[in-house]
Amino acid sequence: MKAAVIREYGDATVFKSEDIPTPEPGDTEVLVKVHFASVNPFDYKVRAGYMKNRMPLKFPAILGTDMIGTVEKAGSSVSKFKKGDLVFGKANFGSNGSYAEYALAKESNIAQAPKNIPERESAGLPVAAGTAWTVLVDLVGLRKGQKVLITGASGGVGMMAIQIAKNIGAYVIGTASKANLQTIKAIGADEAIDYTEGDFSEKVKDVDLLLDTVGGETLSKAYKMVKKGGKLISLTGPTDKAAADKYGIDAQYLSVPSDGKTMEELAKLADSGKLKVIIDRELPLEKISEAHALSESRKAKGKIIIKIQS
Ligand SMILES: NC(=O)c1ccc[n+]([C@@H]2O[C@H](COP(=O)([O-])OP(=O)(O)OC[C@H]3O[C@@H](n4cnc5c(N)ncnc54)[C@H](OP(=O)(O)O)[C@@H]3O)[C@@H](O)[C@H]2O)c1
Repeated sequence: MKAAVIREYGDATVFKSEDIPTPEPGDTEVLVKVHFASVNPFDYKVRAGYMKNRMPLKFPAILGTDMIGTVEKAGSSVSKFKKGDLVFGKANFGSNGSYAEYALAKESNIAQAPKNIPERESAGLPVAAGTAWTVLVDLVGLRKGQKVLITGASGGVGMMAIQIAKNIGAYVIGTASKANLQTIKAIGADEAIDYTEGDFSEKVKDVDLLLDTVGGETLSKAYKMVKKGGKLISLTGPTDKAAADKYGIDAQYLSVPSDGKTMEELAKLADSGKLKVIIDRELPLEKISEAHALSESRKAKGKIIIKIQS
């Protein structure tokens, strides 16, 4: 099979297109013929070696988590999927990821794909929407009428979080740069704030939940916008206990573990027209370096989709 392989940590040009043996699924795995993959910031962080202490790669490695495709072969203990099923979800980390014609996934990390949206859109759901769903629904239990602020609202996670929070019935405020304010309003944000104009932390207060997908200075300003007893969730790095105590809030950094059950919920939501995937562009696997450079620029306007095969 053809795969974008990396043999060392490095910049976006480190990928090599190689012909390598198609992997065999283990007992609880499926081999998926990948139609589309998508790029997440996690992928470039792993590629660059930023995660090598926590999640070291074994080289040669094939990156890529998000995917949609058909089951080519199911392991002997797999009961939910059979050859030919169109599935989506998360490919195995590092060794047999989705930047290849065939990827391996655990049975527990995939689901039947949405039926009513194009495959290329479903490819953009697993990590971004899976993270948003797991935080808002499973971990925080966001409720109707609560006020939530999402920073980085025009990003992959942010756009999914807006839609999932709106579907719950929350009041949603998002921050984005000027060029993306219309987009986040169009997908449901009640208020869209341009973080490049003045200090946005002076414009919002008393949110029940602040979901920070940006980090750095944005995270350090976040605490005071949360109401006493409210929650601050950081997706990018550790939170500051002293600041959380000062404002009487619960602040946590989460590494979010979504799975096949989450994918089933996302498929239902997407099929009912309540989860739209905004796509920046679609590139062939041969252009994976370009796709990574764009993701790393943090200026993509929606998901970057990789076309693998039909
Ligand atoms: N902990 C976890 O389990 C977990 C899971 C998923 C993702 N993440 C992390 O969450 C972060 C966001 O992921 P994503 O997929 O949403 O990324 P993304 O699609 O690349 O989105 C990045 C967004 O960040 C905004 N941005 C860029 N520079 C900014 C700045 N200086 N200040 C404020 N906003 C800025 C951009 O908005 P504008 O263009 O409008 O400025 C852009 O839409 C990444 O670091 C990712 O690794 C963590």
